[in-house]
Amino acid sequence: MSVRDGAIEDLRAAVGLQIADEELLRDLAGGLHDVEELLREVVRSDVQAVNEAARHLVEAGGKRFRPLFTLLASQFGKGGREAVITAAAAVELVHLATLYHDDVMDEATMRRGAPSVNARWDNTVAILTGDFLFAHASRLVADLGTDAARITAETFSELVTGQMRETVGPGDGEDPVAHYLSVIAQKTGSLIATAGRFGGMLSDASQEHIDALRRFGEIIGTAFQISDDIIDIDSPSHELGKSQGTDLREGVRTLPMLYELAEDRPDPRLAELLRGPLDDDALIEEALGLLRTSRGLERARATLSDYAQRARTELAALPPSPARDACESVADYLVARTH
Ligand code: IPE
Ligand code: IPE
Ligand code: MG
Ligand code: MG
Repeated sequence: MSVRDGAIEDLRAAVGLQIADEELLRDLAGGLHDVEELLREVVRSDVQAVNEAARHLVEAGGKRFRPLFTLLASQFGKGGREAVITAAAAVELVHLATLYHDDVMDEATMRRGAPSVNARWDNTVAILTGDFLFAHASRLVADLGTDAARITAETFSELVTGQMRETVGPGDGEDPVAHYLSVIAQKTGSLIATAGRFGGMLSDASQEHIDALRRFGEIIGTAFQISDDIIDIDSPSHELGKSQGTDLREGVRTLPMLYELAEDRPDPRLAELLRGPLDDDALIEEALGLLRTSRGLERARATLSDYAQRARTELAALPPSPARDACESVADYLVARTH
């Protein structure tokens, strides 16, 4: 296994993981290196336009959180390294495909610290390249057998259903917070659950451990989206790598907003701003400022901590090990990144 210089440091910095165990770190860094090579190989195309648009966001980086979790989950089994690498790359490709499409839907201009594909080229290029990436994810998992192929298809279907439900919004009489929490479990928790499930499954872990990794993945995936929604409001945008306030601009009511609106006495100006479409930069800045000191944001942070704690509880089903400690540090990281 060849681990390039600095790969371990990159890994620590990327997701702030507190992994003390050198052997585990080396193994994860080596795995991520192989995933990276596979990703670059897979997105190559003889057609220059496809090649450029597909490579654009792969090369822009990103945290590679999902493949990392697949690799981490594979520590609970033994062997199956090649299949695990393939699954980790496939999961990242599915994620990437959804980002290409999500940026069209959200009219986002920045992604991974670079111009989004829809901004640099146009919506058509972004949609088609997203399809191209998903096609390659399907090709990769086809080599892993029918179970893996079916799980990928089911996960993708759940993810897009979540996005559709977010677009449609809660039904009459439906509690908006309950709707939000179930939507984010679908749109974000589902793929991270599959990342963990694949790691366990393809390394031949026990069924009990695979189930625990899947449940842990779904809960930290949900927590991951809550933390993403918090930092869309409260984080320096240069750290985000995408523009801040996109949820407000797109009229997507995230947890801090829903909690604020559910208060007995929500901030009246904020409530007024959240009612209308917000397409003016100054109004978005004003709403962001009010949200940052709101009771709604405080409650969303508390809910994030609850999810992180629930995720830690799932880990009890896994054997004590450096890999289990690393999973626990993922839960810590999701809370820490919002501060
Ligand atoms: C962004 O995911 C989309 C969400 C589900 C919140 P990431 O925050 O993992 O994005 P990258 O892969 O690091 O760019
Ligand atoms: C989209 O959520 C999550 C997906 C499943 C693609 P967001 O719209 O919050 O993701 P970002 O903030 O654009 O990365
Ligand atoms: Mg988005
Ligand atoms: Mg977001």
